[in-house]
Amino acid sequence: MNFSPSSDRYSQMKYKRCGRSGISLPVLSLGLWHNFGGVDDFNTARALVLEAFDSGIIHFDLANNYGPPPGSAEITFGKILNSDLQTYRDELIISTKAGYLMWPGPYGEWGSRKYLLASLDQSLARMGLEYVDIFYSHRYDPQTPLEETMGALNSAVKSGKALYAGISNYPPEETTRAAEILHDMACPCLIHQVKYSLLQPEAGKGLDKVLSRLGIGCIAFSPLGQGILTSRYLDGIPKSSRAGKAHGFLREEEINQTVMSKVRLLNDLATKGEMSLAELSLNWVRSHKFITSVLVGVSSVDQLRTNLKLIGLEPFSQSQMDNINSIMK
Ligand SMILES: NC(=O)c1ccc[n+]([C@@H]2O[C@H](COP(=O)([O-])OP(=O)(O)OC[C@H]3O[C@@H](n4cnc5c(N)ncnc54)[C@H](OP(=O)(O)O)[C@@H]3O)[C@@H](O)[C@H]2O)c1
Repeated sequence: MNFSPSSDRYSQMKYKRCGRSGISLPVLSLGLWHNFGGVDDFNTARALVLEAFDSGIIHFDLANNYGPPPGSAEITFGKILNSDLQTYRDELIISTKAGYLMWPGPYGEWGSRKYLLASLDQSLARMGLEYVDIFYSHRYDPQTPLEETMGALNSAVKSGKALYAGISNYPPEETTRAAEILHDMACPCLIHQVKYSLLQPEAGKGLDKVLSRLGIGCIAFSPLGQGILTSRYLDGIPKSSRAGKAHGFLREEEINQTVMSKVRLLNDLATKGEMSLAELSLNWVRSHKFITSVLVGVSSVDQLRTNLKLIGLEPFSQSQMDNINSIMK
């Protein structure tokens, strides 16, 4: 294995400041939720990570439970880091999360200090890392005092096992409280990871203002609606697709006629604008000012290259956005 990245990899990407923090993130980031598990092909996974890095995508997003089986995406990523990217560790922003079910018993999920800190240690061991750049509370836990969950993020940062704290899937009110608690511990909340796409535009309402006011960055996950907002399902459900695979999280019934009739109209609009539907969908997310980075998943290098064309696009104008939004109503 002999990886030698191109010397101009940083000239191809755009970077945006993450809230009121010291770091910038690539406008496009890569997530390892699907296609990097123990069930997936290692050589494809490696090719995807290295192609991304070579294109200036220096942010890789993981979680304890990504696989399947849970934990295996971190193992795969650790192997790639070890074989190809060790020299470049200081160029990377690597995130992981804890919140969903990881091991049996009462301490294997949600937001307790016990779970979060044990999970972070496990994630570091799987990836062979001394620290991650961002450690997230993966979901708001209504049963655990927010002070305890945020206290665990603060401990992760103060111990040096994480450089920044983040939250994901928190409603606006809990986001404000979480940020205040972290602020009081001198551990700013760097980023919020939110599901945001043309299929789920609601997340922007309410959170955009809260995040801007608090100086927190925002990274949008599933910006392609797990593939629905691309050409992937225009002619049915391919066996190799996320909806076609037994372990994929996309259910066949989500690809229904109501959704697909809108997707076809979006596709016509994209064709008129001489771009792919994937580019249009990604640029719609990116065009919102509160978005720092768009977090995609890919199953092939071709998909990644298509998505990278986002970087050459200007954000959509208000009239272009209105036009797109009118299709989704
Ligand atoms: N915080 C959270 O709770 C949470 C939840 C979910 C995800 N995430 C993060 O967000 C990341 C992205 O989520 P996601 O994978 O659902 O994002 P997505 O970008 O909406 O969907 C990715 C899927 O879309 C298809 N695709 C991508 N580019 C394509 C292209 N150019 N043409 C045709 N199809 C294309 C591929 O499907 P096929 O596999 O069918 O080819 C790919 O696997 C995850 O990896 C994870 O890091 C976070």
